[in-house]
Amino acid sequence: MKVLVINGVNLNMLGIREPLLYGDKSYAALVKGIKAEAKALGLKVRCLQSNEEGKIVTYIQRALGKYDAIVINPGAYTHTSVAILDALKAVAIPTYEVHLTDVDAREDFRKVSYVSLVAKRRITGLGFEGYYKALRMIAGKEDSPAEEV
Ligand code: DQA
Repeated sequence: MKVLVINGVNLNMLGIREPLLYGDKSYAALVKGIKAEAKALGLKVRCLQSNEEGKIVTYIQRALGKYDAIVINPGAYTHTSVAILDALKAVAIPTYEVHLTDVDAREDFRKVSYVSLVAKRRITGLGFEGYYKALRMIAGKEDSPAEEV
């Protein structure tokens, strides 16, 4: 199975941005962890990051016919981007929405998620572990709706 992991705006700043919220580990460390987990699960994974909404839409469009699942943390675009929602609807690839923080316990504007309208599963507040959990769900090694947020 091939999985595309997309990280959106400001996620390249992991380790620098608000470490009390997002942790002190870098984006490179996240990618390393995702690749290790994917390998252990027998999944093929590609990790992409962009600060540009249109590029994220293009990544999603190009995934059509190439990937079996998408794991996406759009960053702040989660709360604003109808374009990312529409792209995910267009390709209809099973999508797993991940957030490092517990977005629903933060400011009201973070409680809105366009991506969640199409996401098969939503994992929030688990830090890097959220991405690994999404991969395990895709691999069929874990399915625990009770733990979903
Ligand atoms: C985030 C939560 C968003 O509200 C925020 O804008 C981010 C990161 C998270 O992973 O917790 O950039 O998606």
